[in-house]
Amino acid sequence: MQIKLEGLTKVFTDKTGKETVAVNNLDITIPSGKLVSLLGPSGCGKSTTLYMIAGLLKPSAGKIFFGNEDVTNLAPEKRGIGLVFQNYALYPHMTVRQNIMFPLENMKIGRKEAEALVLEMATLVGIADQLDKKPAQLSGGQQQRVAIARALVKKPRVLLLDEPLSNLDARLRLQTREEIKRIQREKGITTIFVTHDQEEAMSISDYMVVMNFGTEQQFAKPQDIYTNPVNAFVAKFLGVPPINLVEGEVKSGKVILGKDFVVSETNVKDGLYNIGIRPEDFRVVEKGYKIPVGQYDVETIGRDTLIRFEVEGTQIRALVDSDTVDVEKDVIIGVKTNKVHIFDKETGVVVK
Ligand SMILES: Nc1ncnc2c1ncn2[C@@H]1O[C@H](COP(=O)(O)OP(=O)(O)O)[C@@H](O)[C@H]1O
Ligand SMILES: [Mg+2]
Repeated sequence: MQIKLEGLTKVFTDKTGKETVAVNNLDITIPSGKLVSLLGPSGCGKSTTLYMIAGLLKPSAGKIFFGNEDVTNLAPEKRGIGLVFQNYALYPHMTVRQNIMFPLENMKIGRKEAEALVLEMATLVGIADQLDKKPAQLSGGQQQRVAIARALVKKPRVLLLDEPLSNLDARLRLQTREEIKRIQREKGITTIFVTHDQEEAMSISDYMVVMNFGTEQQFAKPQDIYTNPVNAFVAKFLGVPPINLVEGEVKSGKVILGKDFVVSETNVKDGLYNIGIRPEDFRVVEKGYKIPVGQYDVETIGRDTLIRFEVEGTQIRALVDSDTVDVEKDVIIGVKTNKVHIFDKETGVVVK
């Protein structure tokens, strides 16, 4: 089921009349059968967007389509959605079986059929052997799987997840996110996944919408956004260690950091810009920018070495192959081709 947002906007007005624009004019088409993440910092409008799609919040302006159907004013229970929240919101006094079966109660289906559906969903999420337990007897990851099974039991057209992994510890988070991806693929269900965790979004999504201040910054495949961020905000939001962003100059077709660190060639016009280079896009070279021994420090991270040095007072982090660094010698550094991002100093927008 394709989901289309047209000019979707939400303004909250508090008692004093002060307005907060939580979601600002979103135009997004979410392709059918894909997993799309809404990614951005806390408060950027992800949950508000999701709840408008769910029908739990009424938009201030704009429209929502499921396929060709305008669902903007449709009641939540008529939209055919399954919703999963950060806190699993299971009924503690019910068994896992009863929890998963709960959404079927008002449907006219027999006990046998309901039991079969519960078993199908429990098997899908890998908790079929836990059906007689109470939620408190399960781990957080298992509880979240129960919540997912419950969201799927009515065979929704769309699955909506709001930070479903945030309450889990690191190991379970990893495992559960792989499970969500598998379940989503198996069912081919159009899924919107809200998260503030860039690594999580990068690993799980077919497409990502990066948001800031209620607006769409970029909508594309994770790797495309990582490689070609449209602005400095997006560039900074993705990647660990983060992208280096330093003031630089374009002069006669050369991009220069500090006095004489030429990082690339360009046809951008002369001037001052913010230059972005990801740590892993540096490399040790034979001829290039020399950092004398004693003016850099290193940290070994597995096969890679993180070199820290300063250019005109700004620290730069370069992640290079450990074999190429001899800490007792000067190091000569360069940048891989086509890996230098040039951003407008005022707007942060990428300059081509
Ligand atoms: N019910 C509400 N009333 C007033 N302001 C709200 C309400 N819900 C969210 N907001 C505000 O809207 C903005 C977006 O919130 P939210 O969608 O929850 O962000 P996110 O999920 O990205 O962290 C925030 O500034 C938040 O404070
Ligand atoms: Mg939220």
